[in-house]
Parts: sequence; structure tokens; C-alpha cells
Amino acid sequence: MPQSWRVQHGRVTLKTLEQLSQEDWRRFFSYFRDREIADWNGAKPTRYPFWLFKKLMLDDFNALERFSFGMYDELEQFMGSVELYDLHPYPPATPKIATLGIVIGERERWGKGYGREAVRAALEFAFSRLPSALERVRLTTFLHNKRAQAAFKAAGFRQVGLHERTDHTDVLMEISRLEWVEEQERVSG
Ligand SMILES: CC(C)(COP(=O)(O)OP(=O)(O)OC[C@H]1O[C@@H](n2cnc3c(N)ncnc32)[C@H](O)[C@@H]1OP(=O)(O)O)[C@@H](O)C(=O)NCCC(=O)NCCS
Repeated sequence: MPQSWRVQHGRVTLKTLEQLSQEDWRRFFSYFRDREIADWNGAKPTRYPFWLFKKLMLDDFNALERFSFGMYDELEQFMGSVELYDLHPYPPATPKIATLGIVIGERERWGKGYGREAVRAALEFAFSRLPSALERVRLTTFLHNKRAQAAFKAAGFRQVGLHERTDHTDVLMEISRLEWVEEQERVSG
């Protein structure tokens, strides 16, 4: 059974999946059925029924194959999710690298700084709260997803490459633990 975590940055609190209420799970599920959100994530809306969606999420989480969090605002309202997945090396070895994924499911919350705060909270978890800190966090986003890139950049990620696909271009971004530590030192003066 994975450890229960709460990580806070600014207005945002991340809570591991076992802390989600049934109402949170329903909202979470609705985000993954939303076509526009799926498009931004390069995915298809889930066709699973609710119970299977929840089971698959919890199975991965319980198997320590991904760190999954619900995202809450300053009023403890559920608004999205953050994940660190694609862990390398693969558990039970100690992972050093992970990929970050994020969804704010409530459209009216986009562009208000919640995304960068949630990413910063996830980086604090990855680089300082985990007993065996990760060395690097990476991600991929669409070149046309300028809002995501701006949020990731504001949270410390830098662009490390472009990947031309047949119908779109991916932007590869990453941040190392060393870069994150240096940024913390710079901010705290
Ligand atoms: C991506 C996402 C997590 C970002 O979170 P957010 O809270 O909306 O982002 P923030 O408010 O922290 O930052 C948004 C930035 O994008 C900028 N922005 C918004 N629309 C933009 C556009 N069309 N072009 C350029 N910049 C844009 C904002 O000005 C802001 O940057 P600034 O503060 O430097 O000016 C959120 O929008 C989301 O979940 N979107 C849908 C799913 C998605 O795209 N997930 C990511 C897949 S990789």
C-alpha cells in the first residue's frame, strides 16, 4: 500500500488518490470523458465505465507504478489531477526519472496560475519529499499548447527538444533535481 501524501504550493494542495471522496472521483472521471481535455492531452475520452476507470487508476497507484494526486484549490475544491508516471527504472527498483502529466478539469480555472502551482507542488514531492528523490522529471506537450508550455516554464521546466510527428509537433521539456534545488536557493535568496 503506498504512503498517503499531501503536498501544498501556494493555493494548491495535492492529495494522493486514496484521499479522494466519491464526489471527487466522479469529477475526475468526467474530466477523462471530456473531448476537449482529451484533445489537449493527445488522448481519446475514456470509454471505460466509472467503476473500471477508478479501479485501473487505483491499481496503478497501489502497485506503485505511478504517483497520482488529486488537485485541490484554496477552498479544498477538487479541480484536477497530477501524475508522475512512466517511472525509470521500473519499480521495485528505485525510480530516478518520471514523466509529469496534469489536467485541470474545470475550464474556468485555466490561465489563473493554478497549473504552475500544482506543477511546483509535484516537483517538491519528486525532488524533496520522496524518501528517494528523483533525478529528473520530464514531459511532452503539443507545440500548439502554449498555455501548458507557459505554465511548465513558469514552474522551472526548460525545452529540451522538438519531435516532429506526422500530424503535429511535440515539445519535450524537463527539469533536473539540481536545477530545481538551484531555483529554490535563488528564490529563497
Ligand atoms: C495546461 C494547464 C495544466 C495549465 O494550467 P493553468 O493554470 O491553465 O496555467 P497557468 O495559469 O499557470 O499558466 C498559463 C500561462 O499560459 C499563458 N497562456 C494562456 N493562453 C495562452 C495562449 N493562447 N498563448 C500563449 N500563452 C498563453 C498565460 O498567459 C500564462 O502564462 P503567463 O502567466 O506567463 O502569462 C491547464 O490549462 C489545463 O489543464 N489545460 C487542459 C489540459 C492540458 O492542456 N494539459 C496539459 C497537457 S501536456
